[in-house]
Amino acid sequence: MFETLKPQPADKILALMQMYRDDPRADKIDLGVGVYKNAEGVTPVMRAIKAAEHKLWEEQTTKAYVGLAGDPAYSDAMIKLILGDAVARENIAAAATPGGTGAVRQAFELIQMANPKARVFVSDPTWPNHVSILKYVGIETVVYRYFDRDTRGVNFDGMMEDLKGAEKGDVVLLHGCCHNPTGANLNEVQWKEVIALLNERGLIPMIDIAYQGFGDGLEQDALGVRLVASSCPETLIAASCSKNFGIYRERTGLLMAVSNDTSAQALNQGTLAFLNRQNYSFPPDHGARLVTMILNDDALRTDWAAELEEVRLGMLGLRQQLADELQRLTGSDRFSFIAQHRGMFSLLGTTPDLVEKMRVDNGIYMVGDSRLNIAGLNAQTVPVLAKAIVDAGV
Ligand code: LMR
Repeated sequence: MFETLKPQPADKILALMQMYRDDPRADKIDLGVGVYKNAEGVTPVMRAIKAAEHKLWEEQTTKAYVGLAGDPAYSDAMIKLILGDAVARENIAAAATPGGTGAVRQAFELIQMANPKARVFVSDPTWPNHVSILKYVGIETVVYRYFDRDTRGVNFDGMMEDLKGAEKGDVVLLHGCCHNPTGANLNEVQWKEVIALLNERGLIPMIDIAYQGFGDGLEQDALGVRLVASSCPETLIAASCSKNFGIYRERTGLLMAVSNDTSAQALNQGTLAFLNRQNYSFPPDHGARLVTMILNDDALRTDWAAELEEVRLGMLGLRQQLADELQRLTGSDRFSFIAQHRGMFSLLGTTPDLVEKMRVDNGIYMVGDSRLNIAGLNAQTVPVLAKAIVDAGV
C-alpha cells in the first residue's frame, strides 16, 4: 500500500522555516513564518498565560474529557471577544478546534456537507494553506483579485468585479483583519459594499480571523467580522488564539456558524460537534481553558490586553521605521505602504528571484511571494533589511 503514496508538495512557509534553521550564518534574519518575536528574537509566553497556567496547575482536579464542542464557557468568551454584542448568542453555534487551521478545515467540511456544489472564492493571494486544504477536501476554488501590485493596497474594484462572478450558494473567504499575506485590508465603507454584494447575490461569507489585536486594536480589528455577521443571513467564522494569546503550539481555535434564523442553531451546533467527533473527537482543552480564564478574569484580561497592545504598537513602530529608512535610502515614498499595512505581514510585491537574492546574499528569509513578517525585525535589523531591499533593486 505505502508504495502507492506520492510525495506531497512542501508547504512553502514551513519549508522556509527549515531552511532558516539550517543556515549557519549568525546574522541571518527570519521574516518567514507568522510567529511573533520580540526585539530579542524570542516568542515569549504572555504574562497572563503564565499566570493562568499557574492557577490551572494549582486548581485543576481532572483531565477527563470535556465535550465534543469543547467547554461552552470557551465558546461564550470567544464569541464575546470576536463578535461583541453584534449577534445574539442564540444565533451562534460554536465549537473549539485544534487551532485556526482546525477551524478552517472544519468549515470547509461543513460547506461541502451542506452544499457539495459550492465553490469557495479566495483572495489573490491568500494564506497558501487555504488553497491547499480546499484542494485536499475537494472543493473548487476560484480566485478573486485582491492585492493591487502597483499601490500595494486593495484592488477593490477588481475584487468586486470578480465576486460578481460568484453564484448563489458560493462561499467567499475573507480575512477578518491583518490580511495574510498582504497586510492590505478593507476599510469600513468597503466592508459594507462587500456585504451588500454578498446579500444581493446570495453568497455565504466565511471569515478567517487569526490576528485580532495585531492591526488597529482588539475592537477595531473585529469591525469587519461584526458587520458581516450582523448583516448576512449566514456566516462562518474561523478564529485562532495562536497569535493574540501567543499559544501557537497549544492549538486553540474556534469555528462559529452564525445564522439569523435562531431555529438553525441546534442543527448547526450538532453538526459542528459531529464534525469534531469524525476528525479527532474532543478538541484540545489546555489552550482554550487558559483563554477562558483570561477573558473571564478582570485582572488577567487587563494584563493580556496591555501586553497585546505593546506587541501591536511595537510592530507599528517597526513598520514606520522601515518605511522611513527606505524613504531615506531611495528618496521616494514608494515604500510608504509598509507603514499603512496592518498586522504581522506586508507583501513587498517583488519577484521570487529578488526574494531569493536577499536570502542568498544577506541571509534574509521572507516567503517566496515576498511576504515579510514585521515582527521578525528589531531596531538594529530594520536598516539591514532596508539596505538589502534597495541593493537587490526591489
Ligand atoms: C503563517 O501564515 O505563517 C502562519 O499562519 C503559520 C502557518 O501555519 O502557516
